[in-house]
Amino acid sequence: MATAAKDYDVADLGLAEGGQQRIEWADRQMPVLAQIRERFAKERPLDGVTLACCLHVTSETANLVRTLVAAGGEVALCASNPLSTQDDVAAALVDRHGASVYAINGEDNESYYSHIAAAVERRPQITMDDGADVVSVLHGERTDLLDGVLGGTEETTTGVIRLKALEREGKLGYPIVAVNDAKTKHFFDNRYGTGQSTLDGVIRATNVLIAGLKVVVIGYGWCGRGVAMRAKGHGAHVIVCEIDPLRALEAVMDGFEVMPGVEAAKEGDIFISVTGNRDAVAGPMFAEMKSGAVVCNSGHFDVEVNKEDLNALTEDSYQARPHVTGHRLKDGREIFLLAEGRLVNLAAAEGHPAAVMDMSFANQALASEFMVQNHGQLENKVYPVPEEVDAVIARLKLASRGVHIDELTEAQAKYLASWDQGT
Ligand SMILES: NC(=O)c1ccc[n+]([C@@H]2O[C@H](COP(=O)([O-])OP(=O)(O)OC[C@H]3O[C@@H](n4cnc5c(N)ncnc54)[C@H](O)[C@@H]3O)[C@@H](O)[C@H]2O)c1
Repeated sequence: MATAAKDYDVADLGLAEGGQQRIEWADRQMPVLAQIRERFAKERPLDGVTLACCLHVTSETANLVRTLVAAGGEVALCASNPLSTQDDVAAALVDRHGASVYAINGEDNESYYSHIAAAVERRPQITMDDGADVVSVLHGERTDLLDGVLGGTEETTTGVIRLKALEREGKLGYPIVAVNDAKTKHFFDNRYGTGQSTLDGVIRATNVLIAGLKVVVIGYGWCGRGVAMRAKGHGAHVIVCEIDPLRALEAVMDGFEVMPGVEAAKEGDIFISVTGNRDAVAGPMFAEMKSGAVVCNSGHFDVEVNKEDLNALTEDSYQARPHVTGHRLKDGREIFLLAEGRLVNLAAAEGHPAAVMDMSFANQALASEFMVQNHGQLENKVYPVPEEVDAVIARLKLASRGVHIDELTEAQAKYLASWDQGT
């Protein structure tokens, strides 16, 4: 076991034992990451490398951190969302795994950003982001540290969008691997992980019966497809709102009703935003909603639900249940906002199940190794995860489930590689 970290800021180190149990529970569902950890412990590909990781501080992330530490990395971890930190896990990471964690559940904005600053202060050679917050500090107030960074990795869609904007402006200071864009990440994590855990968050926060309700899903991307699929599975009548005609058509063919947000606002009982965009639920929709409507967000930032617009209509607000704020509107209606408009699956539930984070974090671990080995040949650009990494992870995951698949025969391989073989 690693010795305890010396520098950290967590809620209570006394919670470490409970956190350790949670980490071990998640580990049972993370066999791919465990295999990588075993190899890393032998080969030490990150020996002496300092990493600043800004990720949701959960038991799954803890197993990634263990993997990076096993590889020889020195890890500073801060939260990528103030409401998602599991304080017991943070304590265990400090006490049992030697990681410097700076994260406290429910911390205010000042503490949140001071914790990101503390991780950046460790002069990282590798950055690992979920939403590009460390990258943003390094390209904003701490450009003096950019030179020391070899490369980075990014976990989520919103982060990749921010990085590509930096790259387009010629301002990206080091190469970054877009882990989100790996197939073994977004096909599964964004779809099945966000799908299940978002419904879990809504149910834990409200305890409503989903069956028979009208659930409005705003955004039919990878996450939206998962949320819509799971809401339908619970017996909801699902309405989808989109701005992209292809995605909207896909939703229609998948059997969902599709209409503009203001129309859906009149019908919906529960609204779930997963667009990665601002104002996905805003004033014009609030104006039309039925009394009792529940509104939440599972997109990365809390800009998707326009809280200023809701507050402007509000007479007074109150805590109806944990993670549920009741807004009594001036016109007599009530609207309930979950988790202050922050990621409902992390705030009100436990985020993605470990089995899916197994693949996302296997990508993170292998991408950080790739970065240390290849940064010299890379330009300051956003890179995809190498294709062979996707294939390796998918094979390991199938094997861990005891699933075997067919292989191409020689004749089939030849047929697929030819241009002249027809009927
Ligand atoms: N909750 C989680 O744990 C979790 C996990 C993964 C990703 N995310 C976040 O969820 C968000 C969505 O990710 P994704 O992978 O599904 O992205 P995506 O790009 O695949 O899908 C987003 C969809 O939203 C649509 N959209 C954009 N603006 C809209 C608007 N105003 N109204 C209606 N539709 C609109 C887009 O056309 C697109 O189809 C991102 O912010 C991502 O970072 C959250």
